Amino acid sequence: TAVEKGNYRHFMQKEIFEQPTVVAQTLGSYLRRSDNSVALPQFDFDLSSVKRITIVACGTSFYAGMVAKYWFEQFARVPVDIDVASEFRYREPVLEKGGLALFISQSGETADTLAALRHCKENGQTIGVIVNVPTSSMAREADLLLPTHAGPEIGVASTKAFTCQLAVMAALAAHMAVKKGLMSRAEEQEVVTHLLEAPACLNAALDHDEDIASMAHLIAPARDVLYLGRGPDFPLALEGALKLKEISYIHAEGYASGEMKHGPIALIDDEVPVIVLAPSGPLFEKTVSNMEEVRARGGQIVLISDAEGLEHAGEGCLATIEMPRVHPLIAPLVYAIPVQLLAYHVACVKGTDVDQPRNLAKSVTVE
Ligand code: G6P
Repeated sequence: TAVEKGNYRHFMQKEIFEQPTVVAQTLGSYLRRSDNSVALPQFDFDLSSVKRITIVACGTSFYAGMVAKYWFEQFARVPVDIDVASEFRYREPVLEKGGLALFISQSGETADTLAALRHCKENGQTIGVIVNVPTSSMAREADLLLPTHAGPEIGVASTKAFTCQLAVMAALAAHMAVKKGLMSRAEEQEVVTHLLEAPACLNAALDHDEDIASMAHLIAPARDVLYLGRGPDFPLALEGALKLKEISYIHAEGYASGEMKHGPIALIDDEVPVIVLAPSGPLFEKTVSNMEEVRARGGQIVLISDAEGLEHAGEGCLATIEMPRVHPLIAPLVYAIPVQLLAYHVACVKGTDVDQPRNLAKSVTVE
């Protein structure tokens, strides 16, 4: 049966709003509520023996992989290599025996990712696939099949698949840590409890839809926009810039907050809005100093943070977007909402074709 838009104007908007439900569905198949533990499908493979993880993907799925790298290293203490598929397959990656190669894809059909998967298979890697289409080519070739339960994604720009991919990989990273004896039962319960808070926090983030819609006209006239983030929220800055480019055709760049002074700071003036993703926490102060560098050059900041962060650093911003106060583990899922909504509403102001942006395809099955 055909998927319909219901009361929404665009599929992308509908898919953004589906995230609390589909992330809950996805988490539900990887976490056990009865005892707050991670429960992955049975595989004929020992996760505790993994010495190295190679992550390969394209587009938004690649940015989900970048976030997961932080988690695999933090929780499971496994070194992670990550690359976009089109580069990976044409360099000569060193793939040692016993490695786990993870491929992330909404469609399961992206040609470059599929070719990289086959290359890893030929080179003795165990193939893990995080995929939204269970009948796809990648799903069929997986040793460890880790489905996302986002449901059909119609909007060309990926939204709900991304947060579901993050949910799966957070569970996988915690599970590896447990298997390796690096995460105690109590720590596992804590991680699972925080993950299970994600759907409610996504809802709280969605409550700011109207605020974001009403500030979109401030961004719409811009020619360039800069997104900044740190740690696991740095890939969200990249994703925010990608979303804006894809559907509003405004040039945007994502940067690690601390790297701004090595280049993009040269672009800052009062015509380049700077979107700062900064949940309060240990890295917050560092980002505040980066914001000061922007301000000193007349830059206009949109700060996305929680109440505490906004109280501390929201003054003098062009606009602020309030997020719920969340555990750092789920911040990348929650902060995905404002960057998606901002791109969406800016595109609506500009009147572009949100669901079918020019020159882009939902699934890129050519090289
Ligand atoms: C295309 C889509 C993106 C998507 C990327 C990777 O570029 O427009 O939204 O992130 O492909 O697709 P995949 O299906 O492999 O996740």
